[in-house]
Order: sequence, then structure tokens, then C-alpha cells
Amino acid sequence: MKFHILTLFPEMTDTCLHASILGRAARSGCVSFHTVNIRDYTTNKHKKVDDYTYGGGAGMLMQAQPVYDAWNSVQSGSEARIRTIYVTPQGRTFTQELAQELSREAELIFLCGHYEGIDERVLEEVATDFVSVGDYVLTGGELPALVMVDAIARLVPGVLHNENSAETESFQNGLLEYPQYSRPPVWHDKEVPEVLLSGNHKKIAQWRLEQSIRRTQQRRPDLYEQYMKKNLQS
Ligand code: ADE
Repeated sequence: MKFHILTLFPEMTDTCLHASILGRAARSGCVSFHTVNIRDYTTNKHKKVDDYTYGGGAGMLMQAQPVYDAWNSVQSGSEARIRTIYVTPQGRTFTQELAQELSREAELIFLCGHYEGIDERVLEEVATDFVSVGDYVLTGGELPALVMVDAIARLVPGVLHNENSAETESFQNGLLEYPQYSRPPVWHDKEVPEVLLSGNHKKIAQWRLEQSIRRTQQRRPDLYEQYMKKNLQS
């Protein structure tokens, strides 16, 4: 799977994309990351990419021309329309479900805004999705784009060596993950729950499901309610 990131600050994204699990995945060829510096596409002789907003108001806006040409440098290389995500607090909230949907695409473009945003006319032409990471405002789109790329890339086959771990974790079945324990069996007088040492896989699975349900009810009553509704229907 190929990720293209359009940004004014490629150094922000490149560092994260080349480290740890994502870096290893890129080196092994399961995914590839391509950063496009929007400033490289401005036709302005001073390399300017922003200007004042018509109608007044605070701050500067990213102009349509460099954004469009940066986007087109990627899109023109592909016959299919590449899904283009404009990373914005005005979008729908990113979820595990959306991560799964997007992980089935062959290529994705993430458009990172800065300053007060991007000229609406270019968004009308290039953006297919408007996605936020939550109801708070960040200084730019790079951090939220990285959050989304990370969540999507780890679902691509081969990125996580343990294919199971993406299946059993939080949100995958609408529940939070159950508590986990490692050695030693007793730490600070706390014992690992006995069932986990029993070797009885059926009992362990049952205990984990109960714990997941209890944890979801305590920590995320909104998810618990959805889970109960779905399971009462079926
Ligand atoms: N840009 C600034 N804040 C953001 C947010 N919460 N989500 C996505 N993009 C953003």
C-alpha cells in the first residue's frame, strides 16, 4: 500500500515514517511512504504558498495553486482516482472502522493544512474525504495525518508480524481489550488471575471476553451501549 503525504513540513512526517514498525514495514516493501513538499510546487518566485483571506479575518490561507499542483503530481501518475483525505477538524471523526476501510485502498493521499486552512476551491477539486482526529484544534495536519497513517498501515498484511494482534485488540470487535499480564506471576503482592495459568484455552477466552465487556462498560459506556444493542439484536 502506498501513502502520499502532501505537507509544508516534510521533516515532521519523514522522521516518524522511517522509525520503528512503520520504518521496518517500508524497508520490507509492505507499505511505501512518499512525502511531497507543497512548497516545491509554488509558481511564486519568493516560494510563497499562503495569502490573506478575502473578506478579512485573522491569519493566512494556503493558496489553491501550489496545493493543486502538488496533488496533481501524484494523481497524474495514476489511472484511478486516488482517495484524498483532507486532514481537518471539520471532518468526520477517524475510527478503527474507517482505518479498516482505508487499509483496503491501494494508495491514499493525505493533505495536511496549515495556517487558517486551504482555499475552498482546491478542496472541492481534490478532497474525497474530510477527516478529523477529534474535537480539538492542532497547529497543523501533520500530526493527525501521522495518527491515521499509523492506524491504517498496521492493518496492512505483513506490517505487524503477529497477524493475530490486530484481530484481538481494542475496538476490533466493538470492545476494549481485556487486561494482560506477563512474568513474574506475583508482583507487589498482586497475583496474575489463576485462569490465565490454567492452560484451559476455552476458559481463558471466556474470561477475556467477560473482562473486555466489563472494562468497556466502565471506561467507555458509549461503546458498551452500542455493543449491547448489536448483541441483543443478533
Ligand atoms: N488540524 C488541526 N486540528 C485537527 C484535528 N483535530 N483533526 C484533524 N486535523 C486537524
